[in-house]
Amino acid sequence: MSSVAERPASAEEPAFPHLVGEAAESPAGPVDEAEAAELAKPPIVPLPRAAQMLRFSRRQIQYVFGARRRLGETFRMQTAMPGGPVVTSHPDHVRSLFTAKPELAPSLTGESPLRPILGTGSVLTSLGERHMRQRKLLLPPFHGEAIERYTEMITAATERELDRWPLNKPFAIAPRMQAITLDVIMAGIFGIGGRAERGTSEDRMRTTVKRLVNASTSPIGQAGELLSIGREDASGVIKLGVALLDRPTYAVIRARRADERLAERRDILSLLLQARTEDGEAMDDKEVRDELLTLVLAGHETTANSLAWTWERLVRNPEAHDALREATRNGGNAEEQIEATIVESMRSRPVVPFIGRRVTVPWRLGPYGVSADTPIGMSILLVHHREDLYPEPFEFRPERWLGRKPGTYEWIPFGGGIRRCLGAALAMAEMRVVLEATARRLDLEAAEPEPERALHRNVTMIPARGGRVVLRSRRT
Ligand code: HEM
Repeated sequence: MSSVAERPASAEEPAFPHLVGEAAESPAGPVDEAEAAELAKPPIVPLPRAAQMLRFSRRQIQYVFGARRRLGETFRMQTAMPGGPVVTSHPDHVRSLFTAKPELAPSLTGESPLRPILGTGSVLTSLGERHMRQRKLLLPPFHGEAIERYTEMITAATERELDRWPLNKPFAIAPRMQAITLDVIMAGIFGIGGRAERGTSEDRMRTTVKRLVNASTSPIGQAGELLSIGREDASGVIKLGVALLDRPTYAVIRARRADERLAERRDILSLLLQARTEDGEAMDDKEVRDELLTLVLAGHETTANSLAWTWERLVRNPEAHDALREATRNGGNAEEQIEATIVESMRSRPVVPFIGRRVTVPWRLGPYGVSADTPIGMSILLVHHREDLYPEPFEFRPERWLGRKPGTYEWIPFGGGIRRCLGAALAMAEMRVVLEATARRLDLEAAEPEPERALHRNVTMIPARGGRVVLRSRRT
C-alpha cells in the first residue's frame, strides 16, 4: 500500500471520501411553548445526582458514551444545575445554538468553575453587551494576520525547547509544550520578544501561573475546584492561589499604566488600558486583571495539552506518524499532512470536551422539547465520535482530512458562533509550528504501549501522564 502522503488530494475531491459522512437531519431551534409541550422530554440519566456529577467530572468519556448508548443522542443529566444540563450531540442542534441570537442562547461559561479565579467581567465569563464589547476589543490582536507576526517567536521558542529534550529517557511532553505556549501568550500580552527578564513582575506572574496550573492537578486542587462550582468568589485553596497570582498581576498593570509610551504600544495589555467605552470610561485594574488572567489561563494549557494529545496519538499510530515524518522530512505535502494530523487529533481528543448555552425560550432538539431556562450542553466528544459523521470514529486517521475542510457544526473543538474561541488562530499557528519542527527533527516513541487515560482538570481533558514519550534520535 502506498503511504498516505503520496496520495493525491484536492479541495474538490477528498482522497478518502468514505472517512467523513453526514448526519440525517434533525430539526432544532426556538419554538413556542405550545409546540414544546407537545414534544417528548429528553430521557433522564437514571443515576443519583452525586454519582453523575462525580462521574462526569472524573470519567466523562465513560459517562457520556454510556448515556448515549442507553438513551440516544440527546439526554438529560441530573446535577447541581437545576434542569440539567440536557446534553446533545447532533450537528443540527449545535448549529441552532451557535447561530441563535445571543440573548436566546447565552453561554454557560458565565457559570463555569473558572469564575472564582477569572472574575465575572472577562470576555470568557461575561454575557450580553459587555461580552460583545470585550470581544471586539480583543479580536484584532488575535486575528490571523496579527498572529503571523508571532510565528518567528514561536519557531525560536520551539527550537530552543527541542534541543533540551533528553535522549533515551521517558518524559512527559505536556510540560515541555506548556513552556512554549506560556512564553507565546505572555509575549502577546506584554509585547516582549521572548521570555521576560528574571525578577520582573512579568517573570513572577509567569512563574506563579506555572505553579498554580501544576498545583491544580493535585488532589487538593481538584477538591477545591469541585467546591467552587457555582460560586462567584474564590474560597479555600483557590482563594490562596488567586491571592498569589494577583500580586504580580496588579504590579504589571500598575507599571504599564505609568509607562510614558503606553499610547504607542500595540500589545494586548496596552490595548486594554487604552480602551474606552462609548461613554469614555476606561477599564479599572480589576477588569484588566480578569481579562489578562483569562487569556493566560485559557490560552496556554489548552494548546499545550492539545499538542500533548497529538503526540500521544501519533506514537501509537505508526501509519499516521510515518506519513507526518515523511511529509516534513522529504518535501512531501507537509502543510496538508500537518493540518490533517492536527484536525484529527482535535477530533479524537478535544481538550475542551463539553460546552454549553442556556436557552431563554423553549427549544426543540430533534424529537424533544425543552422549556425556557434550560442549560444545554454540547458534548464535543460525542459529536466527534458519531459513526455517521466519522466512520471508525475511535481510529486515529488523519487521512480523513486530506482534501477536505472540517464542517463548522461537525468539528467543534473551538466551539462556535459569537463565543467561538478567541485564540483559535493563535492555537492553530502554534500547533502547526511545533508539530512540524518536532516531526521533522525528532524520532519519538511511546514510553508505554497502553494509550493514556483522560484526566479531567477543570473544563479541560488532558492526557493523564502528560503524554509520556522517549526520544530515540534528534536531527539538527
Ligand atoms: C487548542 C487550544 C484551544 C482550545 C481547544 C480552545 C477551546 C475553546 C473552547 C471550546 C471555547 C468555548 C467556545 C464556545 O463556548 O463556543 C473557548 C473559548 C475561549 N478561548 Fe479558547 N481554546 C484554545 C486556545 C486558546 C488560546 C490560545 C486563547 C488565547 C488567548 C484562547 C482564549 C479563549 C477565550 C478568550 C475564549 C472565550 C471566548 C468568548 O466567550 O467569547 N483559547 N476556547
